[in-house]
Amino acid sequence: MFYRPEDGHGLPHNPFNAIVTPRPIGWISTRGADGSENLAPYSFFNAVAYVPPQVMFASTSAKSDRGDTKDSVANIRETEAFCVNIVEYEMRDVMNASSGAWDRETDEFDVSGAPRAPCEAIACSRVATAPANLECRLTQIVKLPGEANFVVFGEVVGVHLRDDCLVDGIFDVLTFNPLSRMGYRDYTVVREKFSLKRPGE
Ligand SMILES: Cc1cc2nc3c(=O)[nH]c(=O)nc-3n(C[C@H](O)[C@H](O)[C@H](O)COP(=O)(O)O)c2cc1C
Repeated sequence: MFYRPEDGHGLPHNPFNAIVTPRPIGWISTRGADGSENLAPYSFFNAVAYVPPQVMFASTSAKSDRGDTKDSVANIRETEAFCVNIVEYEMRDVMNASSGAWDRETDEFDVSGAPRAPCEAIACSRVATAPANLECRLTQIVKLPGEANFVVFGEVVGVHLRDDCLVDGIFDVLTFNPLSRMGYRDYTVVREKFSLKRPGE
C-alpha cells in the first residue's frame, strides 16, 4: 500500500512509529524553577554528535496545565537542564508508570518508585539505578511544524556508568538489556549483539 499522511492511512492504527523501530528510550528527568521534579519517557530520542557529545528528544502534544507543551519541555525552558536515564528491561514497569499525564505538581519519581539520586553537573535528579545517566545542558529547543511539536537538544556535561555494566572497559549492554520502543503498545529488548568491521578497518 501507499498513503500520503495528509490523506490518512486507512488502517486501524497509525503505523508511523511501528515503521521507525526499535527506538531507544530517553527517560528524561527535569526540575522546574520552583524545584518540582519530573520524570517521563521519550522514544523520539537519540544521540546526535560526539564532540561535544549531544542528544535530542522530541515532545509532541500539550498538557492543559502547561500551555503549548508537556512538563519536561516546560521545565527545561525554565532551568535549561535535563538528565537522560537509560532504561533497562527490569525497569520497564517503573518507566511505564512514570508516563501518565499527571498534573504539573506530580513528581513521577514518587509515583513510579524510580529511585532518585542527585546529578553532579546539573541541578536535577537522576534515576539512581539506571545503567547510565547523561547529564545535559540545554543548547536549543526547535519548534517543528504542527501543534506542540518540539525538539530539545542538549550537550552532555556529565556521564554516569553503573559499575557492573562495565566489562573489561566496555559498556556492555548485555549486562542490563536495554529496553526499546516499537509501534502500538509494543517494546523489544536487546539480548544479543554481533559486530561488523567497516570497509578498510
Ligand atoms: C515508552 C514511551 C515513549 C514515549 N515517547 C514519547 C515521545 O517521544 N514524545 C512524547 O511527546 N511523548 C512520549 N511518550 C509519552 C510521554 O511519556 C507522556 O506524554 C508523559 O506524560 C509526558 O510527561 P511530562 O508531561 O511529564 O513531560 C512516551 C511514552 C512511553 C511510555
